[in-house]
Amino acid sequence: MDFAGLFKQHGWELLVVAAFTLILLPVFSLVVVIARFFIKQSVGIDASKIKKRHVLVVGASQGLGKEVAIQVASLGASRVTMVARGTDRDGSGKSRLDYAVDECKAQCSSEVMVDLIKMDVRTPDSVSQTLESIVQQHGMVDWLVVCSGSANPLLILDNELHGHSNEKAMMDVNFFGTVNVIRGILAIGSKMSPPSYPERLVTVGSVALGCPMAGFAAYGASKGALRAFTDVLRNERFFYGNIQVHHFMPGSMDTPGFEEENRNKPEVTKLIEGTADLYSASQAAAALLQGITNETYLINNDPIGVLARLNIQNLTPRNWPLVEAMASPAAVVIGEILLRHFDGISRKCSRRSQ
Ligand SMILES: NC(=O)c1ccc[n+]([C@@H]2O[C@H](COP(=O)([O-])OP(=O)(O)OC[C@H]3O[C@@H](n4cnc5c(N)ncnc54)[C@H](OP(=O)(O)O)[C@@H]3O)[C@@H](O)[C@H]2O)c1
Repeated sequence: MDFAGLFKQHGWELLVVAAFTLILLPVFSLVVVIARFFIKQSVGIDASKIKKRHVLVVGASQGLGKEVAIQVASLGASRVTMVARGTDRDGSGKSRLDYAVDECKAQCSSEVMVDLIKMDVRTPDSVSQTLESIVQQHGMVDWLVVCSGSANPLLILDNELHGHSNEKAMMDVNFFGTVNVIRGILAIGSKMSPPSYPERLVTVGSVALGCPMAGFAAYGASKGALRAFTDVLRNERFFYGNIQVHHFMPGSMDTPGFEEENRNKPEVTKLIEGTADLYSASQAAAALLQGITNETYLINNDPIGVLARLNIQNLTPRNWPLVEAMASPAAVVIGEILLRHFDGISRKCSRRSQ
């Protein structure tokens, strides 16, 4: 039977098979990938992997970092070292970091040691000295979670104002700051005899990398650089005792940092972002710890993040490679729809400003 004859006899059947393969299978696979994300979230955190660990959290005075510190302390870590600049002061002379440490101590057993360290991640020498003194006192840390960061969304032309470069400021804290901490601990570990490295290193990027939007050029570039650094670190980890490396890509979180960034946020950025849900720092910290203890490399805390991740995974470990491969066409199509939506908002806002 030739093709025309086959089509005449089984036309509907072939169309159903083609439609299933081209449309239904990718859509079904995407639904399965997102359903798996929710199921994994509901399973919760494997506390046995946190028990008796010394967890060093950088950027722990507020927001995500503070919640990570509180949750690991409550889940059985033996020691939690909370790090931030700690340069602010209220009427009673206490900094945000002091209050965060008090809050952490109040929420965990008295057996957990909670330490406070003041350090600015932007100064490599003081980062090295501070890490050195932590390791000298308590031995190599088990987990290093670097949450410090900030966002100052501005349109590209506004990024350079009065000799102040927003691109440089974002790179200094988000990229170089994290690199200073990670290289610092690796350098200390390599000089120990025998060499000793943390069990896990965690960096915090942003879902903004997968959803590029007006206003986030400086911030997105710094988080893009950090993502590239972490991807390479994951492959290079065998030189450093096979450290487990994780990269968190949170969506918008309801934190003091988010409140601050919203003060000067361009209208166009607010309108594009408006379509995304806002998660609490505590929900995001739980998603991060769930991903870490579940041995996930690229960790999301929301379904939009899962969708974005499918489009910017690079050559890094996927949660579920075969199903994600089948889901990819659907993720690309939804990505195209979002892209047109974002471009439409930007075009409209640019017309209004002229
Ligand atoms: N909130 C969001 O919507 C969102 C979305 C995606 C990604 N993120 C990322 O998630 C991470 C946490 O965000 P967040 O919203 O929780 O931020 P946040 O509320 O502003 O907290 C930032 C933390 O970083 C510390 N920090 C800032 N600059 C520092 C420096 N130079 N040296 C040492 N510590 C420094 C701050 O401490 P002090 O100021 O007390 O020193 C604070 O503890 C950041 O990397 C951020 O880029 C946030």
